[in-house]
Amino acid sequence: MTAVVWVLNGPNLGRLGTREPDIYGTASYDDLVVACTSTGEQLGLSVDVRQTDDEATYVHWLHEAADAGADALLLNPAAWTHTSVAVRDAASALSAPYVEVHLSNPLAREEFRHVSYTAGHAAGVVAGFGLDSYRLALQALAARLAADPR
Ligand code: DQA
Repeated sequence: MTAVVWVLNGPNLGRLGTREPDIYGTASYDDLVVACTSTGEQLGLSVDVRQTDDEATYVHWLHEAADAGADALLLNPAAWTHTSVAVRDAASALSAPYVEVHLSNPLAREEFRHVSYTAGHAAGVVAGFGLDSYRLALQALAARLAADPR
């Protein structure tokens, strides 16, 4: 059966392309969706890509992923990475593996970005490669799911 991977994007990521292009690049959010779905197709994964600026919606999606049995997730909680115990708690309750992804490298930026509430429970973290962070994380999850089908 085709494994299902959810890609959950947090606040301001819908504004990619116009938002601080010197940091996040010129690719748009639509480009991010295409990068994920086309990489998923190449890897034989079904990819569901979502974005919200609402923290409660993000937490509900994590609950939904846990209940609906997503096989794996890519999480870019954006600013909530550094602030949200609620997102961390919902992510920690997932039984499916997740990779934390960032377009930029938060560790090379301001100090408040050096803390991640969500990385501690992640299978891994990929950061700093723009849209390639998502492609690389999908590759890593596909390999993991192939080695350990759920
Ligand atoms: C980000 C990094 C975060 O520090 C920032 O708040 C974002 C985007 C990234 O993908 O590089 O909104 O998660």
